[in-house]
Amino acid sequence: MARTPLEKSAEPDLGTDLIPKERYVSREFMERESDRMWSRAWLMAGTLSDISEVGDFFTFEIGRESIIVVRSAADRIDAFHNACQHRGYRVCEAERGHGKTFVCPYHLWAYDLAGKLRGVPDREDYPQGIPDDTRLAPVRCDTWGAWVFVNMDLGAESLSEYLGEAGGHLDGYHFDRNYALTEDITFEWNCNWKVGVDAFNEVYHVQGIHPELLEISDDVDCPIDLYGKHSRFLFKIGVPSPRWTDTKAQAAGYRDRGEVTKEMATVLEAFGLDPKDYDDRIEEIRPALITSLREAAGPANLDFDDLHDEQLWLDVHYSFFPNITFNISPGHFWLFRHRPHPTDPNKMYWDYQNYDRIPRNSEPPPRPTHRFAVWGDGQEKDLHIALRQDGDAAAPIQAGMRSRGFKGLHLAAQERRIRLFHKVLGEYVDG
Ligand code: FES
Ligand SMILES: [Fe+2]
Repeated sequence: MARTPLEKSAEPDLGTDLIPKERYVSREFMERESDRMWSRAWLMAGTLSDISEVGDFFTFEIGRESIIVVRSAADRIDAFHNACQHRGYRVCEAERGHGKTFVCPYHLWAYDLAGKLRGVPDREDYPQGIPDDTRLAPVRCDTWGAWVFVNMDLGAESLSEYLGEAGGHLDGYHFDRNYALTEDITFEWNCNWKVGVDAFNEVYHVQGIHPELLEISDDVDCPIDLYGKHSRFLFKIGVPSPRWTDTKAQAAGYRDRGEVTKEMATVLEAFGLDPKDYDDRIEEIRPALITSLREAAGPANLDFDDLHDEQLWLDVHYSFFPNITFNISPGHFWLFRHRPHPTDPNKMYWDYQNYDRIPRNSEPPPRPTHRFAVWGDGQEKDLHIALRQDGDAAAPIQAGMRSRGFKGLHLAAQERRIRLFHKVLGEYVDG
């Protein structure tokens, strides 16, 4: 089993070109993404634990496509396009469910769990006949971690080739057994889906929209690694930013940057450490937190066995092309999936999921209900403050990108995960 590497990887040369804004605002580009990228990339469709019994299924909506994923046998998962072979009706309108067959609501054509057509009312009424091998159009599927992935291209490379080296980096977290899904909300954002991806691929914006993070995290020394199509950064928590200066600390009512802030004290106290012990010794906080977490793991029956000490107080932040973001801390992780709107390049769906670490061999809590919300309707108020700030930034970015006074993204080196993303996207849409 591979552990998360902590060393720097080799850097490809990605150039310095402007990223044309048409990628974010044009319908024509949106159509090309649908025809050439979404139809050929491996996509995270849903959670494996949602289809543990034979007959369990879920549907996955991605742009104008809908895909059914079903546990068709104890050891088999099938996926197919959600389009009846009679006249195209969406066979399955439920988000999740359980059954023995899929019966199209319109004229009641019936398909078995493997997608094969099994029943047609008035079958003798088709002078042209109905071929015996009629079935819902198949989609490839495979699993990684705690999730099912699909690919609409039947000739695509395997999922493990697609994920490449980065796919093995997170094995040590054991997503399939050590965490349980505890929050599941889809928010509609007024921006292109790539604004969602970009929002989580750099820490340059921390000083702008997340000033309170400067007290407890390092947005300057944040190593970036690029792995083929995918990328990561390692964001240190439990240490103040170099941008958290004496001046900023004093403006916030502290003596200087060496004083333990309220935010940092909360973290220390949660791990049984006395904030007073770290006054003027703030550089000792992170090692102390690591030690305390390591010591707490055994008695709490938490499995941190395959994690390096260093990563116990890191936000291990991976992006898998095209649309998956992981923010992984030892105790929990956030999984974000950024999905395009079916017709409007100025809208997207931001799937937010929180997973909490559970003790070894314990029963996971009941699955939370999936909720849908429009950003701004109030349901975002319980999210972490940083996520509320990120979500609030989505619409103003899209609005500015649509201006005739804006030509494209002029990216900094520390934003090169966004540059890599666009290189890979270009290979799909132009290649
Ligand atoms: S469209 Fe499905 S049975 Fe007619
Ligand atoms: Fe952010």
